[in-house]
Amino acid sequence: MEMFDVQKVREDFPLLNTGVIYFDSAASSLTPKTVIDRMLEYYLEYRANIERGLYRLSQRASEEYEAARKEVASFIGARSPDEIVFVKNTTEGINLAAHSLKLGKEDKVVTTLLEHHSNLLPWLRCSERYGVKVEMVKPSREGFLDPADFERVIDDRTRLVAVAHVSNVLGTITPVREIAEIAHEHGALILVDGAQSVPHMKVNVRELGCDLLAFSGHKMCGPTGSGVLYVSRSLLGKLDPLYLGGGTVELVDLNGYRLLEGPAKFEAGTPAIGEVIGLKAAVKYLESLGMNAIEQHEKMLSKKVYEGLSQVDKVEVYGPEPKFKLGVTSFNVEGLSPHDVALILDSMAKIAVRSGMHCAQPLVRSILGRQQGTVRLSPYLYNTVEEVEKFLAAIEQIAGSA
Ligand SMILES: Cc1ncc(COP(=O)(O)O)c(C=O)c1O
Repeated sequence: MEMFDVQKVREDFPLLNTGVIYFDSAASSLTPKTVIDRMLEYYLEYRANIERGLYRLSQRASEEYEAARKEVASFIGARSPDEIVFVKNTTEGINLAAHSLKLGKEDKVVTTLLEHHSNLLPWLRCSERYGVKVEMVKPSREGFLDPADFERVIDDRTRLVAVAHVSNVLGTITPVREIAEIAHEHGALILVDGAQSVPHMKVNVRELGCDLLAFSGHKMCGPTGSGVLYVSRSLLGKLDPLYLGGGTVELVDLNGYRLLEGPAKFEAGTPAIGEVIGLKAAVKYLESLGMNAIEQHEKMLSKKVYEGLSQVDKVEVYGPEPKFKLGVTSFNVEGLSPHDVALILDSMAKIAVRSGMHCAQPLVRSILGRQQGTVRLSPYLYNTVEEVEKFLAAIEQIAGSA
């Protein structure tokens, strides 16, 4: 099994020198220096708009921007760079898809109660505005989604199935391939929210069989403001862009306009050029470590977290056993609110974790029954066993005096 030297990896992340124990990478990851360097290079050496100027600076900016599209396409196993649309984040990607599909009252969307609000509210909005029927599949308390439940609700009226690949609360992995097969049997499309999978494991859109995949650069060592909506080639021509303007059209005259083909038609106006260049550097960085090695490293940490927490009195851990999930672990300490636990961890040991609903209220309130939410620990490639041990020692102390 390929592995990496975590101490060496840590040297790439200047923020770790502050002594923080950063366990909130599911919210946003830290940024390695190489990403910042590539962005600085853009700002200092060839800062110009793309696809507009014939001068060399603009040519270079355009080349780097399109090279990022190529890099991301190969990272997720897309057939062509044309299938990569740059957006701001996962949320924008899903909203873009929701409105570009032109859903109507004869259509049905199937989603789940496991979802982050970003993969729920756009569909509820389609229901309110356009009369789309939305049906929700319920996960088990551990966060498992059963393909048989999809089989029951997906019918020939279903236009789209929208599911998270990995839960941002429980870390469970959705059986996307099986669900995609059921969707396709009924002529429906499948959109995958890859916000918590693409940064942490090898994701290949062809193996998954998905039509759309959204993910965020800032959760995978890239800059904020960079994100991706993968749109399969066969769908590209059928989607209607949400915004129109500079960069989206081939021809405009008094009789109307003709849109460009390919991803440019979705990227109206000046895009986040520096951020996309940073995203390319982030993808290269992840690839240099190896996605399988990253996944194994996180799973090893997550197992230690799960086993350690399970032995502490007054701690309740949610979600399945480590072998069924990626790095995220949610828990509570009896007698304390999740926010109290997070505040104490920070002030006592400089440990950063997330607390609350994690933008997944249906899951946290209805499925887990936690009205105040949970504490969530989410490791990444720069976390160490020693950090997990410090965290467990802090939790024992907190639970002991609760
Ligand atoms: C599963 C999932 N989907 C969507 C999002 C939204 O991501 P962003 O805020 O980058 O749009 C998140 C963020 O935490 C997430 O975990």
